[in-house]
Amino acid sequence: MKLKDKVAIITGSASGIGEATAIRFAADGAKVVVCDVNQAGVDAVVAGLTASGAQAVGFVVDVTKQETIVAMVDAVKEKWGRVDILVNNAGITQDAQLYKMTDDQFDRVIDINLKGVYNCTKAVVDTMIAQNYGVILNASSVVGVYGNFGQTNYAATKFGVIGFVKTWAKELGKKGIRANAVCPGFVATPMVKAMPEKVLQGMEEKVPMKRLAQPSEIASVYAFLASDDASYINGAAIEVTGGLTL
Ligand code: NAI
Repeated sequence: MKLKDKVAIITGSASGIGEATAIRFAADGAKVVVCDVNQAGVDAVVAGLTASGAQAVGFVVDVTKQETIVAMVDAVKEKWGRVDILVNNAGITQDAQLYKMTDDQFDRVIDINLKGVYNCTKAVVDTMIAQNYGVILNASSVVGVYGNFGQTNYAATKFGVIGFVKTWAKELGKKGIRANAVCPGFVATPMVKAMPEKVLQGMEEKVPMKRLAQPSEIASVYAFLASDDASYINGAAIEVTGGLTL
């Protein structure tokens, strides 16, 4: 129970890594805030957590809409009095090579994956400063360290959220707040499973472990970074790739 009674907001937690993180945090004793644009998914995840005896609450939140985020944070503080952990997990891809990429594809990915992280963190940072305690975790990617074919927009955002945590580590470290990023390789989530079978096989082949990560294997890294076991890890970007980048 390493997150006992910690209040944790996890964005994009109706699916994939976010859902797995909500489940893991709840198992570790956290009070979990599930939020996503997908109402049915939020309801299903909250119902599952509640059925397992966890304390969980759900919100329909679009990370590009500051008013929906602020309303959620206000409601969470009303209910549980604080916000200890923010996992900025919501993210999308809109892939195209640079010469084919539209401005809409570029802007949409920047709005959700980069500005969304800024929006959500801005909405909790005053609370964390007042508590003199907080953990901010950003979903980056190996693509945010090495770049990737067809992902000009996505790579820029995943580099960007590493820039955020390095800056926030410097600004907020003395206020009891740690900020870190997680850089997964290929994870078996709806985002990745939507790819053609041949591409998926090619991905598995590139990993020394010859398989994709399960969402729970990324969630466990978030759980560690959110816990006091990681009390001196600050401003780091942790690669979780099964050796993909070796
Ligand atoms: P997913 O597609 O399964 O889940 C993403 C969730 O974000 C969805 O539930 C979606 O509804 C939600 N979302 C999308 N736009 C939103 C918005 N505007 N406001 C609130 N929620 C929104 O994706 P997955 O694979 O679980 O990815 C989670 C994070 O991990 C993303 O940031 C992704 O870039 C990152 N990541 C994923 C990897 C993978 O291989 N699956 C690898 C590296 C990083």
